Amino acid sequence: MTKSLSSRASRRGVLKGGAALGAGAMSLGPLGTRLAAAQDAGSLEVFSWWTSPGEAPALQALFDAYLAAHPDTEIINAAVAGGAGVNAQAVLQTRLQGNQPPDSWQTHVGRELIDQYVVPGYCEPITDLYTSEGWLDVMPADLVAQATWESEQYSIPVGVHRGNGFWYNKQLMADNGIEVGDTMTVEEFVAAADTLQAAGIPALALAMKDTFPGSQLFENTLLGTVGPDMYNSLFSGEAAWDEAGPREAAETFVTMLDYVNEDFSALSWDQATATVIEGRAGFNSMGDWAYGEVVAKDAVDNIGWVSHPGTAGSFVLVVDSFTLPVGAPSPENARNWLTILGSKEAQEAFNPLKGSIPARTDVDREIFSAYHQWSLDSFANDALVPSCTHGQASSPAFKQAFYDASVAFVTDKDVDAYLSMLTDAAAMDAETSA
Ligand code: GAL
Repeated sequence: MTKSLSSRASRRGVLKGGAALGAGAMSLGPLGTRLAAAQDAGSLEVFSWWTSPGEAPALQALFDAYLAAHPDTEIINAAVAGGAGVNAQAVLQTRLQGNQPPDSWQTHVGRELIDQYVVPGYCEPITDLYTSEGWLDVMPADLVAQATWESEQYSIPVGVHRGNGFWYNKQLMADNGIEVGDTMTVEEFVAAADTLQAAGIPALALAMKDTFPGSQLFENTLLGTVGPDMYNSLFSGEAAWDEAGPREAAETFVTMLDYVNEDFSALSWDQATATVIEGRAGFNSMGDWAYGEVVAKDAVDNIGWVSHPGTAGSFVLVVDSFTLPVGAPSPENARNWLTILGSKEAQEAFNPLKGSIPARTDVDREIFSAYHQWSLDSFANDALVPSCTHGQASSPAFKQAFYDASVAFVTDKDVDAYLSMLTDAAAMDAETSA
């Protein structure tokens, strides 16, 4: 399955395509020699879920950075479509269980990296790269800690996404007489949403084809309702889901769902973001990979942002990183890949396109957009809380339950059922980890 979805992304691949189309009947000449050299340098299979119009060019920037240093390697882009890795992670799990790892895969630091991949024995430590590349000196210690298990580092972060963005189309707001300030409360959202709804415009772009936007909308709403301390306590199992705070959040979630587009079950996250970019919907609660879509669609001037209602002062961490697998087919290429990912150059090339801020703190701030500057400030000053939807905050089992409960809730809006599903999942989690 992965194979058919793989595509060749190297300059070699482009050359190969050329040979097949145009030069096939001619003597291979220098091209033949270069292809042989490419084979000598081997291949590098990179597994991710970066396929959207904003994600793909950002991934290509990483490939370009790698190829600039290692031009003779053939990169195999094994990306599997589906936001937040909803499909990719299942495909990867099958491959790992069958001892067929790629050379490197995308994962979030925190619980996802550790529980899903490191503890089961799928990852090699890369502690020596952290030392030789000096990464410990240029990355925030808290971030490194989330890539660390029993004193060894297991992945290199490439970018830090802020999960609690609330994006809007400036022209659409102006046309409807809506003023958006520096922050937004739920009440302000509801007032704006009523205005848009009266004009026949869906106020909140939702996309449930890749399911994660439902749980993300809830985690952002939860954070906005209970604040960062209680949010952390809920995901760490210290607070209970049947308390007043989560209930109020679930009720607010119902309110927000009153304003979503009717076709939400048919849309992928980037299609929903596109409706805001194109002025067909008002707001989109989405991590700042949405900004990658804005960049790709050349819409930077017309898209505004605030924190998801009530979450100003908090930064929901969604940190993308890459691993070194046990049994990587080309371990040397994989280590070279990770070395490039941790470099200043690669992080400066990738993050402006992806919407995330670099994991390195020594980058040139001036090359980043106004949005990135805003996010850099938020990262420096705000409460940092991990995302459950994107695997950082909880066990993989709880994350799955969180997804399942949210998918059901988006349709049935049953607050009691929702909270009791989360309560049960937390109890099961506590039992398993006891
Ligand atoms: C997140 C990932 C982001 C972005 C998003 C949508 O899980 O960290 O990089 O790709 O999913 O696919």
